[in-house]
Amino acid sequence: MNKIYMDHAASTPVHPMVAEEMLRVMSGTYGNASSVHAFGRDAKRIVSTSRETIASAIGARSADLVFTSGGTESDNAALFGAAYARVDRGRHLLVSQIEHHAVLHAAQRLAEEGFEVEYIPVDIRGRVDLDWIREHVRPDTTLISVMFANNEVGTMQPVREIGAFARERGIWFHTDAVQALGSLPLDCGDLNADLISFSAHKINGPQGIGALYIAPNIKLAPILYGGNQERKRRAGTENLAGMAGFAKAVELAVSGLEERHAESLRLRKQLLDGLKDTIGEEAFVVNGDPEHSLAHVVNISFPAVGTETMLMNLDMEGIAAASGSACTSGSLETSHVLRAMGLPEKVLNSAIRFSFGLGNTSEEIEAVVKSIETITGRVRTKR
Ligand SMILES: Cc1ncc(COP(=O)(O)O)c(C=O)c1O
Repeated sequence: MNKIYMDHAASTPVHPMVAEEMLRVMSGTYGNASSVHAFGRDAKRIVSTSRETIASAIGARSADLVFTSGGTESDNAALFGAAYARVDRGRHLLVSQIEHHAVLHAAQRLAEEGFEVEYIPVDIRGRVDLDWIREHVRPDTTLISVMFANNEVGTMQPVREIGAFARERGIWFHTDAVQALGSLPLDCGDLNADLISFSAHKINGPQGIGALYIAPNIKLAPILYGGNQERKRRAGTENLAGMAGFAKAVELAVSGLEERHAESLRLRKQLLDGLKDTIGEEAFVVNGDPEHSLAHVVNISFPAVGTETMLMNLDMEGIAAASGSACTSGSLETSHVLRAMGLPEKVLNSAIRFSFGLGNTSEEIEAVVKSIETITGRVRTKR
């Protein structure tokens, strides 16, 4: 059975050129970038060139990029770092309801520590409302965190507008761009954001490496203590191979962006058209915002079939998709994103996320459509 991977929003295959670059670094450079000898200088060179490559591809200055262990750490560094650094101004934060748990759980922890967190609601398409934000900021608001694009439904947010408003009020603005990187043109200097999170493994780079963009003049409280790496902003011996792989992945992602975007749109259309032609348009609903969406993420509910049943059946046919919700103790929790969007229970409990990327083909989409037709037919006849 050919396996079909349609879960690229969860993690992606490492691009062969990324793997090659990582192997080159891993097998040839083993000094510690903090050491003063030639081995250390070689290591340091990898750190600097990787940082420069990434910075120039995303419109940042090298000095404004801090390497982290991934999106989770970048989000944590942004939230804790900003909250702790600005207690003189206040303890009020605004965080959208549909953030990744790396933001939501950090915010929850801050609330336990005495910070006041208010959650920005979203509409049925998963978009936040700038007017709601305008009405809820206060003189003691220190940070607004709204993601660039959502990982479960693909909805993109009006981040430039939110950032511009936050700037007017002297509030720092964090955006989680983990899913946006490589999918949308992205220029850090043009986003009106003070803090931007990135992760390598969503763009055919390695797992366990990411970055946080910190705008000039923003000084965060560190969350890790140790050596003086990353200009004292993130202690710990550098992940050389990870950095080199991340840099290669960003280079490839940014240079191939238009082509990949067009391909994702094509696969998305083929999937939706295929479903219309086979199970009929009344048998499924697309969740998210058709006008403002990542091309490679499509969240579809099949109200006649529960999420778990559909995922398990797809898995048996060799197809990997996702529910978007966390799997805790063997049962699926309803997605906080879909719940925040206020979708009906039937839609909530039957949502499946397909996400496309490197290696996906039209033949695979055809096979997925066929499998969904079989699964929905089987479930219907069992009723
Ligand atoms: C939007 C978003 N933020 C943060 C993360 C966490 O990134 P990482 O897996 O690199 O820790 C993810 C990964 O699923 C994500 O989709």
